Amino acid sequence: MTQLKTVETAVKFINKKTNNFKPEIALITGSGLAGSVPELKNKIVLKYSDIPGFLKSTVIGHSGNLIFGVYKGKKIAVMQGRFHYYEGHPIQALAIAVRVLGKLGVKTLLNSGAVGSLNAKLKPGALCVLKDHINFMGVNPLVNNWDAAFGPMFSDMSAAYTPALTKKALIVAKQNKIACGLGVYIAVSGPSFETPAEIQAFKKLGADVVGMSVAPESIVARQLGMQICGLAWVTNLASGISKKPLSHKETLAETKKIEGKFKKILEDLIPKI
Ligand code: HPA
Repeated sequence: MTQLKTVETAVKFINKKTNNFKPEIALITGSGLAGSVPELKNKIVLKYSDIPGFLKSTVIGHSGNLIFGVYKGKKIAVMQGRFHYYEGHPIQALAIAVRVLGKLGVKTLLNSGAVGSLNAKLKPGALCVLKDHINFMGVNPLVNNWDAAFGPMFSDMSAAYTPALTKKALIVAKQNKIACGLGVYIAVSGPSFETPAEIQAFKKLGADVVGMSVAPESIVARQLGMQICGLAWVTNLASGISKKPLSHKETLAETKKIEGKFKKILEDLIPKI
């Protein structure tokens, strides 16, 4: 059986709760970034745990709400909190929420996450707008998870992050005087942080930032034909580059400082989409 039935059941439930609200833009908020969501009009909040077929978020710092509303005329859906492979969910299960968003009508995905930086120019607090990713997780959410309703089995990833959106995000960050750069995201499974040797190897592969999410959702979204803007917030220098041991607590503490900046970027970027 494919995931289509699960997705359709969730969509039916959501449509009932939202009176068939059709979001055009979706935002996925990463670790500790849940407070960055702009103030939405006609807001409807659904708990993940109430939506049939949805997974449960188990990570500290991740809320579990699917929010709908309107921001400056744009119809938005927000995944406040995401699911991770390291939580023990099968990688295919991470496709469900993104496929639900696709079925609801989402055409553009703002895919955000916290990252460690391998690039001396991207310091903690900086925004790395993604030009591409390297999926180093060792798994792909589309394996044994195909239905024609979700797009082609061999989906194109040659322009995974839409250049026009990337450009807009960088302009908005600069206008707000927020340190930013363009970079490549390398996705790892986690939950352990990387070793210094892994980070040196990733640098040679061409990565600027490292994280434990973003890539699976982008892969699923591209199959659906969505445009993607990848927004990675640097919470720490990567292992070995940082002189200190890494911790999730520290990552979350840094995101608290980032939330306000991210909200500003979203407020300026969303109307331009
Ligand atoms: N490594 C992997 N994921 C992360 C990091 C990191 O250094 N920082 C925030 N998420």
